[in-house]
Amino acid sequence: MKEILEAILADELDAVAGLDVPDHYQGITVHEDEVEMFAGLPTREKDPRKSLHLDEVRTPELGPGEALVAVMASAINYNTVWTSIFEPVSTFGFLKRYGRLSSLTKRHDLPYHVVGSDLAGVVVRTGPGVQAWKPGDEVVAHCLSVELESPDGHNDTMMDPEQRIWGFETNFGGLAELAMVKSNQLMPKPKHLTWEEAASPGLVNSTAYRQLVSRNGAGMKQGDTVLIWGASGGLGSYATQFALNGGATPICVVSSPEKAEICRKMGAELIIDRAAEGYRFWKDENTQDPKEWKRLGSRIRELTGGDDPDIVFEHPGRETFGASVYVARKGGTIVTCASTSGYEHVYDNRYLWMNLKRIIGSHFANYRESWEANKLVAKGKIHPTVSRVYPLAETGQAALEVHSNLHQGKVGVLCLAPEEGLGVRDPEMRAQHLTEINRFRGL
Ligand SMILES: NC(=O)c1ccc[n+]([C@@H]2O[C@H](COP(=O)([O-])OP(=O)(O)OC[C@H]3O[C@@H](n4cnc5c(N)ncnc54)[C@H](OP(=O)(O)O)[C@@H]3O)[C@@H](O)[C@H]2O)c1
Repeated sequence: MKEILEAILADELDAVAGLDVPDHYQGITVHEDEVEMFAGLPTREKDPRKSLHLDEVRTPELGPGEALVAVMASAINYNTVWTSIFEPVSTFGFLKRYGRLSSLTKRHDLPYHVVGSDLAGVVVRTGPGVQAWKPGDEVVAHCLSVELESPDGHNDTMMDPEQRIWGFETNFGGLAELAMVKSNQLMPKPKHLTWEEAASPGLVNSTAYRQLVSRNGAGMKQGDTVLIWGASGGLGSYATQFALNGGATPICVVSSPEKAEICRKMGAELIIDRAAEGYRFWKDENTQDPKEWKRLGSRIRELTGGDDPDIVFEHPGRETFGASVYVARKGGTIVTCASTSGYEHVYDNRYLWMNLKRIIGSHFANYRESWEANKLVAKGKIHPTVSRVYPLAETGQAALEVHSNLHQGKVGVLCLAPEEGLGVRDPEMRAQHLTEINRFRGL
């Protein structure tokens, strides 16, 4: 590993193909014999630092269409939080089901799960049949893993019955020194970014792109008004940028003056601090309060001069969904990709059908959508939102911050990269965008 890293740091990428790949590497894992470790504890008390381990694991043999990547940096996504607290289910169930598919997928069914769904790094080996990528290529990876043997996925690969999220529903994820991906997950690393910056947009950028911009999601257009929950968080910080970049008006919902300030720095003008407003959409565990939906709707109209949102960008789920359905404009769209606060949503259907609103489910993104989202980063139109960076050994702490909602934007993780700031190939372009690139830094 040391030789591979030295070659990358010395910019001798052509040499990588000739270097030995070690048969073991370090990766962040959860253990199958610990899935009950948090039994009985409330969600917020489940501590990822206890369940995420830095282990030495075996390097997998590559199959057709696969690639092994030396991971310079990765990032924390909420799915790693879910894996680490074994909620809503243990991810070992995913690995077992995947393992039953074929002798190749059996490699994923192990008593440990190497997690992580983002990476920036260098290809070190490719499996049989890979034409488009070669050892030495500097890459980022999106996290859609598909088999594509069924016709169902051939219009939109997210529809493949064997669609999985790499590093969550498959093994050998990105929070490690090496990662195994399918070659159709690879995309060029944006040249003006450091490893940790390049590793951070992947999952959330692609998800927000499909959810908000793509015709498979809400199909946002110029002039739309978009209500964005968690607008300074992982998904929200990209949704806010897409809205601004695409000629729409974001209404950013956040929970502190600091987060409101970040949204202002991104260029948003209409901001709601949900903590300061004190919304209580639920009177108790079972009863919602429509007066509170109306209060949110009035605040939105006050900010927009009377417009209701064309699109509501949803992911908090149970706590906010009733309000989201209520405040969307007549004919508007509520597009949802998650249920952080609970997956049993309750809303008043009269507001939906009488006002011809639509609810759209959205999940990650296909290769094309991920590619387009990555292209926007590579062109300097959308920027990374890294606030803090941790070494691989402190991944548990990084995941805890995301779990506790103490972070801003994205939390990065250095894997092989010995320090921050490395990997920039286009310093001139970087200089043009430095302020935007560093907007979330140190927050
Ligand atoms: N389906 C997919 O493909 C996909 C992809 C990415 C993420 N996800 C899921 O989407 C969710 C968000 O991911 P993320 O990376 O954006 O996480 P994140 O960085 O933690 O951001 C989420 C934001 O949502 C807001 N929020 C949290 N709980 C809330 C509540 N009860 N009511 C209102 N706002 C709330 C918070 O912002 P404020 O406190 O500032 O309001 C928080 O910063 C997670 O559940 C994740 O698993 C799904």
